[in-house]
Amino acid sequence: MNQGIYDLLLQGVFGSAAALFLILMFISAPYGKQERAGWGPGVNMRLGWFILELPAFIGMFWFYWQGEHTLSAAPLILFALFQIHYFHRTFIYPYTLRIKPGSSYRIILLVFGMAFNGVNGALNGWFLSEMGTHLYSNAWLVDPRFIVGILLFAAGFFLAKHSDAILGNLRKPGETGYKIPQGGAYRFVSCPNYLGEMLQWTGFAIAGWSLPALAFVCFTAANLIPKALSSHRWYREKFNDYPSNRKAVIPFLL
Ligand SMILES: NC(=O)c1ccc[n+]([C@@H]2O[C@H](COP(=O)([O-])OP(=O)(O)OC[C@H]3O[C@@H](n4cnc5c(N)ncnc54)[C@H](OP(=O)(O)O)[C@@H]3O)[C@@H](O)[C@H]2O)c1
Repeated sequence: MNQGIYDLLLQGVFGSAAALFLILMFISAPYGKQERAGWGPGVNMRLGWFILELPAFIGMFWFYWQGEHTLSAAPLILFALFQIHYFHRTFIYPYTLRIKPGSSYRIILLVFGMAFNGVNGALNGWFLSEMGTHLYSNAWLVDPRFIVGILLFAAGFFLAKHSDAILGNLRKPGETGYKIPQGGAYRFVSCPNYLGEMLQWTGFAIAGWSLPALAFVCFTAANLIPKALSSHRWYREKFNDYPSNRKAVIPFLL
């Protein structure tokens, strides 16, 4: 990838994160609890998740292996963490969902999400094995940024997976409605899966000291903070007995 394209795509991700945040604060993305008519055709939900996430996995794979420093330890570890996440999201997560009848993944969301995921995988892969390699000597493995970043990634990963698993088990086979999630970090916030996802990518950005990863954090927060706020409002309106001390996404704050 040449420098001009890299710079343009990177600026595009930062810019689209800012635009997305402004839009989503006023118009909630039409899926899940906010699903509604008027957003065009959709595809099967499992297929939707699969084709949405696949470009991130492929983009990272392809661009990482185009770089010149693919076998250095630190980039290889970061590559592996990114790919473990996206392998799970693409090939496993869609099959764990208990999908309500009639639910579909809107094509308009898919097109936008696939474009972002492809660009995000490509930029992060290229940074790790080519653009950022001046950082990644073996000394980087004991740099506090790398160690703290990896620990934060791991904490966010387990929070997200644990919280997604609680949600995934709320519906018993054959059930289609919504319940109040309990336990784990749901004691503090309505959307700990989103909190985990944001912590995970913040850890990844710190561990790689990488601008494309920072752009990814901004995009993720721009997407998930408005979504958490609208889901939190939705829970409070739907359930009279919804725990009043629970926040939306940041314990005790937001
Ligand atoms: N990096 C990013 O920008 C980004 C963007 C979006 C999502 N994600 C990640 O992708 C994962 C899924 O996101 P999502 O927005 O689809 O999550 P979600 O709205 O919390 O839903 C996840 C699954 O749980 C079900 N569910 C949610 N609340 C429920 C309840 N109260 N009772 C019963 N079932 C419930 C949903 O069913 P319904 O579909 O029927 O609501 C869906 O199958 C999360 O880990 C999130 O962090 C990341």
